[in-house]
Amino acid sequence: MVKVGVAGYGVIGQRLADGVALQKDMELVGIADLAPTLSIRALKERGKAAGMPGMPYDLYLVDGADKSKFDALKIPYKGSFNDLIARVDVMLDSSPGGVGAKNKELYEKAGVRAIFQGGEKNSVADVFFHGYANYEKGLGAKYLKLTSCNTTGLIRSVDCLDRNYGVDRVAITIIRRVADPGDYHRGLTNALQIDKAPSHQAVDLMTIMPHVEATGILVHTPVTHGHIITVVAHGKGGKKISAGMALDAFKGHDRIRVVRIEDGFLGNASFFRYARDLGNPRGDMYEIGLWEDSIVESGDNIMYAINIPQESVTIPETMDGVRAAMKMQSDSASATAETNKYLGLGKWK
Ligand SMILES: NC(=O)c1ccc[n+]([C@@H]2O[C@H](COP(=O)([O-])OP(=O)(O)OC[C@H]3O[C@@H](n4cnc5c(N)ncnc54)[C@H](O)[C@@H]3O)[C@@H](O)[C@H]2O)c1
Repeated sequence: MVKVGVAGYGVIGQRLADGVALQKDMELVGIADLAPTLSIRALKERGKAAGMPGMPYDLYLVDGADKSKFDALKIPYKGSFNDLIARVDVMLDSSPGGVGAKNKELYEKAGVRAIFQGGEKNSVADVFFHGYANYEKGLGAKYLKLTSCNTTGLIRSVDCLDRNYGVDRVAITIIRRVADPGDYHRGLTNALQIDKAPSHQAVDLMTIMPHVEATGILVHTPVTHGHIITVVAHGKGGKKISAGMALDAFKGHDRIRVVRIEDGFLGNASFFRYARDLGNPRGDMYEIGLWEDSIVESGDNIMYAINIPQESVTIPETMDGVRAAMKMQSDSASATAETNKYLGLGKWK
Protein backbone atom coordinates (compact mmCIF):
# COMPACT_ATOMS: atom_id res chain seq x y z
CA MET A 1 0.00 0.00 0.00
CA VAL A 2 1.40 3.36 -0.98
CA LYS A 3 0.96 5.85 1.88
CA VAL A 4 -0.37 9.25 0.84
CA GLY A 5 -0.92 12.56 2.65
CA VAL A 6 -2.79 15.67 1.49
CA ALA A 7 -1.63 19.19 2.39
CA GLY A 8 -4.35 21.86 2.19
CA TYR A 9 -7.90 20.55 2.63
CA GLY A 10 -9.54 23.17 0.41
CA VAL A 11 -11.47 22.88 -2.87
CA ILE A 12 -8.92 20.49 -4.41
CA GLY A 13 -7.52 18.90 -1.23
CA GLN A 14 -10.81 17.48 0.02
CA ARG A 15 -11.40 15.90 -3.37
CA LEU A 16 -7.86 14.53 -3.48
CA ALA A 17 -8.40 12.97 -0.05
CA ASP A 18 -11.64 11.32 -1.22
CA GLY A 19 -9.90 10.19 -4.43
CA VAL A 20 -7.03 8.55 -2.52
CA ALA A 21 -9.47 6.89 -0.09
CA LEU A 22 -11.13 5.24 -3.11
CA GLN A 23 -7.86 3.78 -4.49
CA LYS A 24 -7.62 0.27 -3.05
CA ASP A 25 -3.84 0.20 -3.51
CA MET A 26 -3.24 3.46 -1.62
CA GLU A 27 -3.72 4.47 2.00
CA LEU A 28 -4.73 8.00 2.98
CA VAL A 29 -2.63 8.62 6.11
CA GLY A 30 -4.08 12.06 6.78
CA ILE A 31 -4.63 15.64 5.76
CA ALA A 32 -2.90 18.83 6.90
CA ASP A 33 -4.27 22.35 7.12
CA LEU A 34 -3.73 25.68 8.79
CA ALA A 35 -7.16 26.74 9.97
CA PRO A 36 -10.52 25.24 11.03
CA THR A 37 -12.10 26.15 7.69
CA LEU A 38 -15.69 25.31 6.80
CA SER A 39 -14.40 22.24 4.91
CA ILE A 40 -12.64 20.97 8.07
CA ARG A 41 -15.72 21.72 10.16
CA ALA A 42 -17.88 19.83 7.65
CA LEU A 43 -15.44 16.89 7.86
CA LYS A 44 -15.83 16.82 11.63
CA GLU A 45 -19.62 16.96 11.30
CA ARG A 46 -19.51 14.11 8.76
CA GLY A 47 -17.62 11.97 11.28
CA LYS A 48 -20.12 12.75 14.01
CA ALA A 49 -23.09 11.97 11.74
CA ALA A 50 -21.49 8.62 10.89
CA GLY A 51 -21.05 7.85 14.60
CA MET A 52 -17.24 7.88 14.34
CA PRO A 53 -15.13 8.69 17.40
CA GLY A 54 -13.02 11.15 15.36
CA MET A 55 -13.05 12.58 11.87
CA PRO A 56 -13.16 10.45 8.67
CA TYR A 57 -9.59 11.57 7.92
CA ASP A 58 -6.83 12.26 10.48
CA LEU A 59 -5.91 15.93 10.66
CA TYR A 60 -2.38 17.27 11.14
CA LEU A 61 -1.67 20.94 11.83
CA VAL A 62 0.58 23.09 9.69
CA ASP A 63 3.13 25.34 11.46
CA GLY A 64 1.42 28.56 12.49
CA ALA A 65 -1.98 26.93 13.03
CA ASP A 66 -3.77 28.32 16.07
CA LYS A 67 -4.47 25.17 18.12
CA SER A 68 -6.86 27.00 20.45
CA LYS A 69 -9.24 27.56 17.52
CA PHE A 70 -9.33 23.82 16.77
CA ASP A 71 -9.72 23.01 20.48
CA ALA A 72 -12.58 25.48 20.87
CA LEU A 73 -14.45 23.70 18.05
CA LYS A 74 -13.49 20.25 19.41
CA ILE A 75 -11.75 19.40 16.15
CA PRO A 76 -9.28 16.59 16.91
CA TYR A 77 -5.77 16.64 15.44
CA LYS A 78 -3.26 13.86 15.33
CA GLY A 79 0.00 15.77 15.21
CA SER A 80 2.10 18.25 13.26
CA PHE A 81 2.60 18.63 9.52
CA ASN A 82 6.08 17.10 9.95
CA ASP A 83 4.49 14.08 11.71
CA LEU A 84 2.29 13.53 8.66
CA ILE A 85 5.17 13.98 6.23
CA ALA A 86 7.21 11.39 8.19
CA ARG A 87 4.43 8.82 7.80
CA VAL A 88 3.88 8.99 4.02
CA ASP A 89 5.56 7.96 0.78
CA VAL A 90 4.09 10.86 -1.17
CA MET A 91 2.43 14.17 -0.30
CA LEU A 92 -0.26 15.68 -2.52
CA ASP A 93 0.14 19.41 -2.02
CA SER A 94 -3.03 21.41 -2.65
CA SER A 95 -2.20 24.41 -0.51
CA PRO A 96 -2.84 27.86 -2.05
CA GLY A 97 -0.77 28.65 -5.17
CA GLY A 98 2.84 29.50 -4.21
CA VAL A 99 2.61 27.94 -0.72
CA GLY A 100 3.45 24.50 -2.12
CA ALA A 101 6.92 25.75 -3.06
CA LYS A 102 7.50 26.63 0.62
CA ASN A 103 6.11 23.28 1.80
CA LYS A 104 8.51 21.60 -0.60
CA GLU A 105 11.40 22.50 1.73
CA LEU A 106 9.81 20.18 4.35
CA TYR A 107 9.28 17.40 1.79
CA GLU A 108 12.91 17.69 0.68
CA LYS A 109 14.16 17.52 4.27
CA ALA A 110 12.13 14.37 4.91
CA GLY A 111 13.05 12.84 1.53
CA VAL A 112 9.38 12.44 0.64
CA ARG A 113 7.96 12.60 -2.87
CA ALA A 114 5.36 15.29 -3.65
CA ILE A 115 2.80 16.17 -6.29
CA PHE A 116 1.83 19.82 -6.68
CA GLN A 117 -1.23 21.39 -8.28
CA GLY A 118 -1.51 23.90 -11.10
CA GLY A 119 -1.16 27.09 -9.01
CA GLU A 120 2.56 26.41 -8.38
CA LYS A 121 5.28 27.50 -10.78
CA ASN A 122 6.56 24.75 -13.10
CA SER A 123 9.98 25.08 -11.46
CA VAL A 124 8.59 23.49 -8.25
CA ALA A 125 8.71 20.05 -9.91
CA ASP A 126 10.98 17.84 -11.99
CA VAL A 127 8.13 16.90 -14.33
CA PHE A 128 5.04 18.78 -15.50
CA PHE A 129 2.66 15.84 -15.57
CA HIS A 130 -0.46 14.46 -17.28
CA GLY A 131 -1.60 10.88 -16.69
CA TYR A 132 -2.35 10.19 -20.36
CA ALA A 133 0.00 12.47 -22.32
CA ASN A 134 3.34 11.93 -20.51
CA TYR A 135 2.87 9.34 -17.72
CA GLU A 136 6.17 7.62 -18.50
CA LYS A 137 8.14 10.87 -17.92
CA GLY A 138 6.86 10.87 -14.34
CA LEU A 139 8.09 7.34 -13.56
CA GLY A 140 10.06 7.45 -10.32
CA ALA A 141 10.11 11.27 -10.30
CA LYS A 142 10.51 12.92 -6.92
CA TYR A 143 8.39 16.00 -7.66
CA LEU A 144 5.53 16.23 -10.13
CA LYS A 145 3.31 19.19 -10.96
CA LEU A 146 -0.18 18.59 -12.28
CA THR A 147 -1.62 20.65 -15.10
CA SER A 148 -4.36 23.15 -14.16
CA CYS A 149 -8.00 22.12 -14.40
CA ASN A 150 -8.51 23.51 -17.92
CA THR A 151 -5.24 22.11 -19.22
CA THR A 152 -5.98 18.68 -17.70
CA GLY A 153 -9.31 18.38 -19.52
CA LEU A 154 -8.00 19.99 -22.71
CA ILE A 155 -5.06 17.60 -22.92
CA ARG A 156 -7.36 14.60 -22.32
CA SER A 157 -9.29 15.44 -25.47
CA VAL A 158 -6.34 16.52 -27.66
CA ASP A 159 -4.27 13.49 -26.57
CA CYS A 160 -7.26 11.28 -27.38
CA LEU A 161 -7.34 12.54 -31.01
CA ASP A 162 -3.53 12.57 -31.19
CA ARG A 163 -3.23 8.96 -30.00
CA ASN A 164 -5.86 7.75 -32.44
CA TYR A 165 -5.06 9.83 -35.53
CA GLY A 166 -2.19 12.32 -34.89
CA VAL A 167 -2.57 16.06 -34.26
CA ASP A 168 -0.02 18.75 -35.08
CA ARG A 169 -1.89 22.01 -34.37
CA VAL A 170 -4.67 23.27 -32.09
CA ALA A 171 -6.28 26.63 -31.38
CA ILE A 172 -8.51 26.99 -28.34
CA THR A 173 -10.95 29.42 -26.78
CA ILE A 174 -11.53 29.07 -23.05
CA ILE A 175 -14.65 30.44 -21.44
CA ARG A 176 -13.40 30.39 -17.86
CA ARG A 177 -15.49 30.35 -14.69
CA VAL A 178 -14.18 33.19 -12.57
CA ALA A 179 -14.52 31.60 -9.10
CA ASP A 180 -15.50 28.42 -7.27
CA PRO A 181 -18.92 28.30 -5.57
CA GLY A 182 -18.71 30.22 -2.29
CA ASP A 183 -15.66 32.34 -3.26
CA TYR A 184 -16.97 35.63 -1.86
CA HIS A 185 -13.47 37.11 -1.96
CA ARG A 186 -13.70 37.28 -5.77
CA GLY A 187 -16.56 39.79 -5.52
CA LEU A 188 -19.99 40.00 -7.10
CA THR A 189 -19.33 40.83 -10.72
CA ASN A 190 -21.10 40.97 -14.05
CA ALA A 191 -18.41 41.44 -16.66
CA LEU A 192 -16.19 39.46 -19.03
CA GLN A 193 -12.42 39.85 -19.09
CA ILE A 194 -9.89 38.73 -21.69
CA ASP A 195 -6.33 37.57 -20.89
CA LYS A 196 -3.32 38.41 -23.01
CA ALA A 197 -2.93 35.68 -25.68
CA PRO A 198 -1.72 32.98 -25.90
CA SER A 199 -3.40 31.61 -22.78
CA HIS A 200 -1.19 29.62 -20.37
CA GLN A 201 -3.19 26.48 -21.12
CA ALA A 202 -2.05 26.53 -24.77
CA VAL A 203 1.56 27.11 -23.69
CA ASP A 204 1.26 24.33 -21.06
CA LEU A 205 -0.15 21.93 -23.65
CA MET A 206 2.96 22.51 -25.78
CA THR A 207 5.21 21.81 -22.76
CA ILE A 208 3.55 18.43 -22.24
CA MET A 209 2.86 17.65 -25.92
CA PRO A 210 5.80 19.41 -27.67
CA HIS A 211 4.86 17.96 -31.08
CA VAL A 212 1.62 20.00 -31.09
CA GLU A 213 1.65 23.72 -31.93
CA ALA A 214 -0.97 25.40 -29.74
CA THR A 215 -2.37 28.85 -29.21
CA GLY A 216 -5.51 30.26 -27.67
CA ILE A 217 -7.56 32.98 -26.04
CA LEU A 218 -9.13 32.93 -22.56
CA VAL A 219 -12.26 34.83 -21.51
CA HIS A 220 -13.15 35.01 -17.79
CA THR A 221 -16.89 34.79 -17.11
CA PRO A 222 -18.77 35.49 -13.86
CA VAL A 223 -19.99 31.92 -13.36
CA THR A 224 -18.80 29.18 -10.98
CA HIS A 225 -19.98 25.82 -12.36
CA GLY A 226 -17.34 24.82 -14.90
CA HIS A 227 -15.31 26.16 -17.78
CA ILE A 228 -16.12 25.53 -21.44
CA ILE A 229 -13.31 25.20 -23.99
CA THR A 230 -13.72 25.13 -27.74
CA VAL A 231 -10.87 23.42 -29.60
CA VAL A 232 -9.90 23.61 -33.28
CA ALA A 233 -7.51 20.73 -34.06
CA HIS A 234 -5.51 19.97 -37.20
CA GLY A 235 -4.61 16.36 -38.07
CA LYS A 236 -0.89 15.51 -38.19
CA GLY A 237 0.63 16.23 -41.59
CA GLY A 238 -2.74 17.48 -42.88
CA LYS A 239 -4.46 14.10 -42.43
CA LYS A 240 -8.08 15.05 -41.94
CA ILE A 241 -9.89 13.95 -38.77
CA SER A 242 -13.56 13.66 -39.68
CA ALA A 243 -16.41 14.35 -37.22
CA GLY A 244 -17.17 10.62 -37.14
CA MET A 245 -13.54 9.70 -36.37
CA ALA A 246 -13.39 12.27 -33.57
CA LEU A 247 -16.65 11.04 -32.05
CA ASP A 248 -15.45 7.41 -32.11
CA ALA A 249 -12.23 8.35 -30.33
CA PHE A 250 -13.96 10.49 -27.68
CA LYS A 251 -16.54 7.76 -26.99
CA GLY A 252 -13.71 5.30 -26.37
CA HIS A 253 -12.11 7.48 -23.65
CA ASP A 254 -13.03 6.69 -20.03
CA ARG A 255 -12.49 10.24 -18.76
CA ILE A 256 -14.63 11.88 -21.45
CA ARG A 257 -18.44 11.80 -21.12
CA VAL A 258 -19.98 12.37 -24.57
CA VAL A 259 -23.39 14.07 -24.30
CA ARG A 260 -25.92 15.73 -26.59
CA ILE A 261 -27.57 19.14 -26.39
CA GLU A 262 -30.83 17.56 -27.54
CA ASP A 263 -30.77 15.32 -24.45
CA GLY A 264 -30.80 18.40 -22.21
CA PHE A 265 -27.09 19.07 -21.71
CA LEU A 266 -27.50 22.73 -22.58
CA GLY A 267 -24.35 24.01 -20.86
CA ASN A 268 -22.06 23.96 -17.80
CA ALA A 269 -24.92 24.03 -15.28
CA SER A 270 -26.53 20.92 -16.85
CA PHE A 271 -23.42 18.91 -15.93
CA PHE A 272 -23.40 20.22 -12.40
CA ARG A 273 -27.06 19.40 -11.96
CA TYR A 274 -26.63 15.94 -13.51
CA ALA A 275 -23.71 15.18 -11.17
CA ARG A 276 -25.86 16.16 -8.20
CA ASP A 277 -28.72 14.00 -9.51
CA LEU A 278 -26.25 11.10 -9.77
CA GLY A 279 -25.60 11.58 -6.06
CA ASN A 280 -21.92 12.38 -6.65
CA PRO A 281 -20.44 13.96 -3.50
CA ARG A 282 -20.58 17.79 -3.81
CA GLY A 283 -21.84 17.43 -7.40
CA ASP A 284 -18.31 16.48 -8.47
CA MET A 285 -17.44 15.01 -11.87
CA TYR A 286 -14.04 13.51 -12.57
CA GLU A 287 -14.76 13.32 -16.31
CA ILE A 288 -14.90 16.18 -18.79
CA GLY A 289 -18.08 16.58 -20.82
CA LEU A 290 -17.93 16.68 -24.61
CA TRP A 291 -20.88 17.74 -26.71
CA GLU A 292 -21.44 15.36 -29.62
CA ASP A 293 -23.43 18.06 -31.37
CA SER A 294 -20.51 20.52 -31.09
CA ILE A 295 -18.20 18.40 -33.26
CA VAL A 296 -17.85 20.09 -36.66
CA GLU A 297 -15.40 20.04 -39.54
CA SER A 298 -13.91 23.26 -40.92
CA GLY A 299 -11.78 22.51 -43.98
CA ASP A 300 -9.00 20.23 -42.73
CA ASN A 301 -9.72 21.11 -39.10
CA ILE A 302 -11.98 19.44 -36.55
CA MET A 303 -13.70 21.60 -33.91
CA TYR A 304 -15.47 20.63 -30.68
CA ALA A 305 -16.47 21.93 -27.24
CA ILE A 306 -15.75 20.46 -23.79
CA ASN A 307 -16.95 21.18 -20.25
CA ILE A 308 -14.37 21.26 -17.44
CA PRO A 309 -15.61 20.61 -13.86
CA GLN A 310 -12.77 22.65 -12.37
CA GLU A 311 -13.01 21.42 -8.79
CA SER A 312 -12.66 17.70 -9.51
CA VAL A 313 -11.10 17.26 -12.97
CA THR A 314 -7.48 17.07 -11.78
CA ILE A 315 -8.15 14.34 -9.20
CA PRO A 316 -7.75 11.32 -11.58
CA GLU A 317 -4.53 12.67 -13.12
CA THR A 318 -3.17 13.31 -9.61
CA MET A 319 -3.84 9.64 -8.73
CA ASP A 320 -1.94 8.77 -11.95
CA GLY A 321 0.85 10.98 -10.62
CA VAL A 322 1.12 8.87 -7.45
CA ARG A 323 1.25 5.75 -9.65
CA ALA A 324 4.06 7.24 -11.77
CA ALA A 325 6.13 8.66 -8.90
CA MET A 326 5.85 5.38 -6.97
CA LYS A 327 6.33 3.24 -10.14
CA MET A 328 3.11 1.37 -9.33
CA GLN A 329 2.48 0.79 -13.04
CA SER A 330 5.02 1.14 -15.81
CA ASP A 331 2.86 2.70 -18.51
CA SER A 332 0.04 5.18 -18.93
CA ALA A 333 -2.53 2.67 -20.20
CA SER A 334 -2.31 0.37 -17.17
CA ALA A 335 -1.98 3.23 -14.65
CA THR A 336 -4.94 5.22 -15.95
CA ALA A 337 -6.99 2.00 -16.13
CA GLU A 338 -6.35 1.35 -12.40
CA THR A 339 -7.25 4.91 -11.42
CA ASN A 340 -10.36 4.78 -13.60
CA LYS A 341 -11.46 1.48 -12.06
CA TYR A 342 -11.32 2.82 -8.50
CA LEU A 343 -12.95 6.15 -9.36
CA GLY A 344 -15.69 4.48 -11.40
CA LEU A 345 -14.71 6.33 -14.57
CA GLY A 346 -16.41 5.12 -17.75
CA LYS A 347 -19.14 3.37 -15.77
CA TRP A 348 -21.84 5.41 -17.56
CA LYS A 349 -21.14 3.71 -20.91
N1 LIG B 1 -10.08 25.61 -7.29
C1 LIG B 1 -9.93 25.06 -8.49
O1 LIG B 1 -10.88 24.98 -9.27
C2 LIG B 1 -8.59 24.48 -8.89
C3 LIG B 1 -8.55 23.63 -10.00
C4 LIG B 1 -7.32 23.02 -10.34
C5 LIG B 1 -6.18 23.33 -9.63
N2 LIG B 1 -6.25 24.19 -8.56
C6 LIG B 1 -4.99 24.44 -7.82
O2 LIG B 1 -5.03 23.67 -6.62
C7 LIG B 1 -4.30 24.35 -5.59
C8 LIG B 1 -5.22 24.56 -4.40
O3 LIG B 1 -6.31 25.39 -4.79
P1 LIG B 1 -7.71 25.39 -4.01
O4 LIG B 1 -8.68 26.10 -4.89
O5 LIG B 1 -8.00 24.02 -3.54
O6 LIG B 1 -7.33 26.35 -2.76
P2 LIG B 1 -8.19 26.57 -1.43
O7 LIG B 1 -7.90 27.98 -1.01
O8 LIG B 1 -9.60 26.13 -1.62
O9 LIG B 1 -7.52 25.56 -0.36
C9 LIG B 1 -6.23 25.72 0.16
C10 LIG B 1 -6.19 25.13 1.56
O10 LIG B 1 -4.83 25.13 2.00
C11 LIG B 1 -4.80 25.55 3.38
N3 LIG B 1 -3.46 26.07 3.67
C12 LIG B 1 -3.02 27.35 3.79
N4 LIG B 1 -1.69 27.38 4.04
C13 LIG B 1 -1.27 26.08 4.06
C14 LIG B 1 0.00 25.46 4.26
N5 LIG B 1 1.11 26.15 4.49
N6 LIG B 1 0.07 24.08 4.19
C15 LIG B 1 -1.03 23.34 3.98
N7 LIG B 1 -2.27 23.89 3.79
C16 LIG B 1 -2.37 25.24 3.83
C17 LIG B 1 -5.93 26.58 3.47
O11 LIG B 1 -6.36 26.75 4.81
C18 LIG B 1 -7.00 25.93 2.59
O12 LIG B 1 -7.82 25.03 3.32
C19 LIG B 1 -3.75 25.64 -6.22
O13 LIG B 1 -2.47 25.36 -6.73
C20 LIG B 1 -4.73 25.88 -7.37
O14 LIG B 1 -4.19 26.66 -8.41
C21 LIG B 1 -7.43 24.76 -8.17
